[in-house]
Amino acid sequence: MLPATILVIFGVTGDLSRRYLLPALGAIKQAGRLPDELRVIGVSRRQIETSDILNDNSNGLVEHFETIRIDTENPADFRVLAQRLDSLSTGFKSQPQIIFYLTVPPAAVNLVIQRLGSAGLNGQNVKLMLEKPFGTDYGSAQQLVNEASKYFKEDQIYRIDHYLAKEVAQNITVFLGTNTLFRNVWSKDFIEKIDIIAAEKIGIESRGELWESTGSLRDFVQSHLLQLAALTLMEPCQDVFDLEQVATHRLKALGFLKPVDEPGEVVVAQYQSYLSDARDPQSKSETFISLTLHSDDPRWQNVPINLITGKKLDDKLTEIRVYFKKSHDLQSNLLVLRVQPNEGIELDLCVKQPGYERNLQQLSLSFAYGQHFGKLPEAYEQVLVDAMAGTQGLFASSEEVLTSWKILQPILDYWQTNKKIFSYKDGSTPQEVLESAGD
Ligand code: BG6
Repeated sequence: MLPATILVIFGVTGDLSRRYLLPALGAIKQAGRLPDELRVIGVSRRQIETSDILNDNSNGLVEHFETIRIDTENPADFRVLAQRLDSLSTGFKSQPQIIFYLTVPPAAVNLVIQRLGSAGLNGQNVKLMLEKPFGTDYGSAQQLVNEASKYFKEDQIYRIDHYLAKEVAQNITVFLGTNTLFRNVWSKDFIEKIDIIAAEKIGIESRGELWESTGSLRDFVQSHLLQLAALTLMEPCQDVFDLEQVATHRLKALGFLKPVDEPGEVVVAQYQSYLSDARDPQSKSETFISLTLHSDDPRWQNVPINLITGKKLDDKLTEIRVYFKKSHDLQSNLLVLRVQPNEGIELDLCVKQPGYERNLQQLSLSFAYGQHFGKLPEAYEQVLVDAMAGTQGLFASSEEVLTSWKILQPILDYWQTNKKIFSYKDGSTPQEVLESAGD
């Protein structure tokens, strides 16, 4: 049973809260897994009502909800919040934990953290949940880490990377730790290359302004793709559910990834209709990126790890494709860990086509989560449950964040003076984007 909780959501009217957080809370409620005692406070700059953020489909969340108006510039507003939290807490049977969930623009994160700290809202019963981007480069990430550490201890901070909590991502550790067939061939001796692809059908939607200071490298590669890479490359864990060990191994795998040494080779592109969504007609913010990494881990020497992500592509798809080495052409060599949609695992096999002729055919041995387990929980459900329970293994530590920025910093440095950006047709496939960039 989860402990009594007051969850305070800064930025409750934003895109992330609407798309992920509130639906996840509703689903946890429906599963009967919310804490017995729970209060949720939606914080917003302007006066809003609960009905502005929750509708009839909110699975009965309304009874837990209230809203408060806070101007983050104004320290007095945080004192009002502290009073409200005090008076709410007295109504609980035991002292509740207080979780501050920050989904605010990157520039506002430090300020909110400072204000919380100065209002004394950083005691032992307080947790801080932070949304990415964690900085915009290595230097700003280091600054964020330093600032947060003035008020909160590392074990009070939960940095969300919801891709770590996706079912298939969680299963990578289990898959490699418990299936000897794969565990024994998981190295440069048998694997030729790894592609990690996250294609999205949606564009930047209502995030035009934010995207100008982010782009796909900061939004997706620094977090989601590097974490998927770390999970794929890390040393298998003895106890696959020891999440602390998983986190330690992830960090070690990230630490082995070399900072990009040929930033000029990174392909960046923008979907054609981007400029109509963006504020700046000269914008060079990328909506597609493809880059290759290498690891210094002796287990992975000379194995290229290709990361590709883009928006406004033909389909939504996140996959880890592992290509095994072939000894001759007529061999099948592909293992796919399908993160979403249709979560599952597929292994290409060569078989003899039945019949008098002797022909080969490539078929797929596949396992689909949906067929066995029905509907899967969304990653944000796990994120919220783990944070409430105090389980930190699926969150990114400050070291992981800094290590991943270190890997990508050469690209950001190179882009200061050289950023060649291609354009691609809305609805292209990743392959088509890469081909048009190569023309
Ligand atoms: C977010 C990114 O972290 O993940 C978005 O900021 C992206 O740009 C989203 O659309 C994708 O998440 P999911 O779970 O829908 O694949």
